[in-house]
Amino acid sequence: MQSPSDIVSDARTAFAAAASVAELEQAKARFLGKSGALTELLKALGKLSAEERPAAGVAINEAKGTVEALLKDRRDAILAADLAERLKSESVDVTLPGRRQSLGGLHPITRTQSRIEQLFGSMGFGVASGPEIENDFFNFTALRMFPDHPSRSMQDTFYIAGTDRVLRTHTSPVQIRYMRSHQPPIRIICPGRVYRCDHDATHSPMFHQVEGLWVEEGVSLADLKGTLTQFLQRFFERDDLAIRFRPSYFPFVEPGVEIDMEWERTEKGVKYLEIGGAGVVHPDVLRNGGIDPERYSGFAFGMGLDRLAMLRYGVNDLRLFFENDLAFLEQFR
Ligand code: DAH
Repeated sequence: MQSPSDIVSDARTAFAAAASVAELEQAKARFLGKSGALTELLKALGKLSAEERPAAGVAINEAKGTVEALLKDRRDAILAADLAERLKSESVDVTLPGRRQSLGGLHPITRTQSRIEQLFGSMGFGVASGPEIENDFFNFTALRMFPDHPSRSMQDTFYIAGTDRVLRTHTSPVQIRYMRSHQPPIRIICPGRVYRCDHDATHSPMFHQVEGLWVEEGVSLADLKGTLTQFLQRFFERDDLAIRFRPSYFPFVEPGVEIDMEWERTEKGVKYLEIGGAGVVHPDVLRNGGIDPERYSGFAFGMGLDRLAMLRYGVNDLRLFFENDLAFLEQFR
């Protein structure tokens, strides 16, 4: 059997070699456990003579106290080292920039649409909508665009093969749908997506229009001019913005006009840019909407919503709006 002092020096070596708390626990068992070296010594005390016993007992207890103290020191050292290691690996570099919460924003076309809805809303216009997959009747026939009309050609329009369905080429069919389900006075705008076979800097196969319709007794071209001038001057925040109504032809209005707005002002005069079409609703179109043209009259207009957005924000390529490049879009947040 080992002497108490040998046991102490063994324990010192074993504890020093333990690299973790778990290893230390195992080493502890070797000395202080149920059949550990010191425990065995204590058990053997009984076999000693009455004279030897007190001195041996004192020596064993002292050794036990020393081993326990060594154990505690080693455990504290291991825990302190563990903590230091953890602090190092989990340390935070407070000089790094914080993680930014990236905020979404409304698309410039959506912003433009809300602005248009708000301005027309203040003039008493509600917002209506219709399907983007239309049928031939609402998109063309009811608007007096008869089978020989150029916009009906396959080059202009996305037809759905084997059906009478088309991706609507304009928002005008909503006029018919709305009149069929509502009685005058009617005062609505209809912003929405439209589709045509077109693709370049100023045309995209999908783009947006905003349609307008006001049907009531006594509505005239003068109301059309007043309403659109008021809208455009407020939309562009310029009271002196020049607006021109140029005679033109659309099958669903009579008379029809093209809406031009000031683009550039030079010594030579004002340069205009076309932003939409309009006119006094043709009596047959009112009839197709179930409204009596003897009693009611109205005006309608259709403008390019994307074009209004391009002019307002100074964007010169329509395609930028639909590429979803964040570097572009984030400028509008
Ligand atoms: N729908 C026409 C287009 O897409 C625009 C238009 C012209 C709409 C005259 C109207 C209108 O309501 O009266 O070219």
